[in-house]
Amino acid sequence: MGFLVSFSGLSGKEWRVTSIFPKWMNHLPTAAAIGGAGTAALVVALVWYYVTPKYWAVGYMPTQPGGGFNHQIHAGKLGMDCRYCHSNVEKSPEANIPTVSTCYGCHADGKLKKLNESPDHKAKTEFIRTAYKAGLPIEWRRVHKVPDYVRNFPHHAHVNAGVSCISCHGNIARMPVVWQVESLSMSWCLDCHREPEPSLVPKKGDSDGAGGQVLESLVTRLFEVEKDWRNNPAKAEQQKKWFDERHISGPENCGACHY
Ligand code: HEC
Ligand code: HEC
Ligand code: HEC
Ligand code: HEC
Ligand code: HEC
Repeated sequence: MGFLVSFSGLSGKEWRVTSIFPKWMNHLPTAAAIGGAGTAALVVALVWYYVTPKYWAVGYMPTQPGGGFNHQIHAGKLGMDCRYCHSNVEKSPEANIPTVSTCYGCHADGKLKKLNESPDHKAKTEFIRTAYKAGLPIEWRRVHKVPDYVRNFPHHAHVNAGVSCISCHGNIARMPVVWQVESLSMSWCLDCHREPEPSLVPKKGDSDGAGGQVLESLVTRLFEVEKDWRNNPAKAEQQKKWFDERHISGPENCGACHY
């Protein structure tokens, strides 16, 4: 890749720019004008940049638009359930990002009056009202992404098997800005598929070990999972029981995850 690097004067550092379109792409039109060889090299560079798995790496934390979205406030302090916004996680492979009308439900003109007396709060949430009134979506930047040669990652299968969001995304309810905690590499998937027991949390209807039943799934209750269920050998026996009862099998055959 040496010729590419010298071609557009890239330093190693710029290859790690964490935005959808790296800054150097601003020079594309100029570069294209330089001529055939340069254009070809850039096309290679783009493809290479795009398909390189390290692009979405541990620690990846893109800047979000407007006042951003703070999970620590909404899911942590306000205690909102993940499914209020990511309403498809139990039904669909895709974990949807909420539309602007979900936000507007609380951040509309005339709502949260007390808070909006603070110019700071009003300013930070203005982008929601602006987008809503214009009928435009908020352009959230994607954080987690498996490469295109991996099949649609099935959220519902994992959530319904009783794997908590925290196993794969870390404690989102403590994150002012979402970042990628796990590698999302093939070995990460397979390690869990070979031994999923330690990642299983209580689901509604499970026996609670004291003669009763679990009343609510803990899949989205990250603080409780963090406190009681993560790396807790005392829970191993119960997790093994659920593994059997839920007939869990994390696939290891190539076709399950690849086309
Ligand atoms: C009030 C709505 C709301 C609630 C509640 C909420 N989220 Fe989100 N979530 C969002 C929005 C908006 C985004 C996109 C902006 C961002 O990435 O910060 C997002 C992004 C994410 C992402 C990153 C998506 C990507 O691009 O890869 C993850 C993971 C996530 N949420 C998990 C959770 C979990 C787990 C919970 C519950 C603890 C939760 N969310 C609760 C609105 C919400
Ligand atoms: C259930 C009501 C509710 C929903 C839905 C909701 N919010 Fe909020 N939001 C609040 C409240 C309440 C606060 C103020 C919390 C505080 O400051 O303690 C807040 C604060 C904020 C702030 C200011 C954060 C800061 O740093 O002070 C932003 C920005 C924001 N919300 C964006 C969003 C976005 C974007 C969505 C949709 C994805 C959303 N909210 C959905 C209730 C909601
Ligand atoms: C077994 C691991 C795992 C679990 C459990 C899990 N996720 Fe994910 N999540 C992922 C992966 C992998 C991706 C990237 C998927 C892709 O590229 O298709 C992702 C992507 C997302 C996205 C981004 C979707 C988009 O289209 O932008 C959101 C939001 C999200 N997850 C929320 C959640 C929530 C909420 C929970 C818990 C209810 C959860 N996830 C549980 C692994 C997981
Ligand atoms: C923390 C544990 C964990 C991680 C990490 C994980 N999985 Fe899974 N996965 C499971 C479990 C448990 C099941 C079994 C679900 C069942 O039997 O109902 C499963 C099942 C699946 C299935 C089969 C779904 C079905 O309909 O039967 C696919 C496909 C899959 N996982 C893909 C992935 C991919 C791709 C990754 C990595 C990006 C991944 N998983 C990471 C725990 C995990
Ligand atoms: C549980 C899901 C899963 C299974 C099963 C699986 N893969 Fe993968 N594979 C992935 C994911 C996710 C990636 C993307 C990894 C990354 O971005 O680092 C990947 C990447 C790859 C790559 C690209 C090179 C690399 O390592 O990044 C090859 C080649 C590959 N897999 C081949 C296979 C073969 C052959 C099998 C069967 C023996 C298989 N995979 C089974 C999830 C899976």
